[in-house]
Amino acid sequence: MTSLTIRRPDDWHLHLRDGAMLEAVTAESARDFARAIIMPNLVPPVVTGADARAYRQRILAAPGAANFTPLMTLYLTEATGADDVAAAHAEGLVHAVKLYPAGATTNSASGVRDFDKVQPVLERMAEIGLPLCVHGEVTDHSVDIFDREAVFIDRVLDPLRRRNPTLRVVMEHVTTAEGATYAREGGEGLAATITAHHLIINRNHILAGGIRPHYYCLPVAKRETHRLALVEAATSGSRSFFLGTDSAPHVDPLKEAACGCAGCFTAPVALACLAHVFEEAGALDRLEAFASLNGPDFYGMAPNAEQITLEKSAAPVPYPAKLETGEGPVTVFDPGFPLHWRVAR
Ligand code: NCD
Ligand code: ZN
Repeated sequence: MTSLTIRRPDDWHLHLRDGAMLEAVTAESARDFARAIIMPNLVPPVVTGADARAYRQRILAAPGAANFTPLMTLYLTEATGADDVAAAHAEGLVHAVKLYPAGATTNSASGVRDFDKVQPVLERMAEIGLPLCVHGEVTDHSVDIFDREAVFIDRVLDPLRRRNPTLRVVMEHVTTAEGATYAREGGEGLAATITAHHLIINRNHILAGGIRPHYYCLPVAKRETHRLALVEAATSGSRSFFLGTDSAPHVDPLKEAACGCAGCFTAPVALACLAHVFEEAGALDRLEAFASLNGPDFYGMAPNAEQITLEKSAAPVPYPAKLETGEGPVTVFDPGFPLHWRVAR
């Protein structure tokens, strides 16, 4: 048996949903992760400090949340007030603000269309050191879906950062070589999260030999060269990259549909998948930086004091294929190969 002991990881991009889904999925993250940046794209979204405070209480009340720290975010709308954001940050409640271009992904209808309208909030965030987490895809229907991340960097992100040079920015779930390069060259005020699934799948997994809706997420997985660039970035040890699983549960009927929802539910297997990828890249010694150190470093927090041990067994670990929830079954991400890693309990 091979084993690896690292600081307890955090998840810097997570969807826990609400209600019966929240009750079912929280434990799946809390088992392995100490803290998580909680995405605010509920219906209706988490917009104000009061919304975030109430949502945080619901998360803490969920089964399995006892040793789990949700780091709340606010959903940036064109009506968001700088004072409300600053107050929620000052009380230690809110750790980032999330920018969804309107219409870019699941529940993003309240997102931003006119960036001039959010400029006062961005200026205040830069002053107080509150990071902006960015869903980096343009929503212009004339732009090919596989190009939307790269085009977003040129048309939206780079101008936004030039206008707000001291704003701390996280490029959420980068999926392209362009995204990884831009993050790496952006200096200490810029970083990128990478999901476990984007280190494993490319677009063939979604589309070749039949359409596989459980691999569909946004940003959509790109061609293999991009996956390889992401593996290189994640395993490089560079402080610019850290784990954000983007674990995003949807019940099976909403995924297996004529118009299926975007999102991969990876929480139960995220660390096992990462250990596999890092081992294959000969970079197990850099897994701790990616999963446990670079994230807190960017967010100005101490890494977790507690440690976990990942163990590799000769026999595959039988992870469940589905999680039953009060809303219906949710398919767990299947990497397409046997997983041999588990967190020792
Ligand atoms: C996320 C969701 O389902 O909320 N879906 C996804 O494909 N990643 C939204 C998001 O992070 O884009
Ligand atoms: Zn997400």
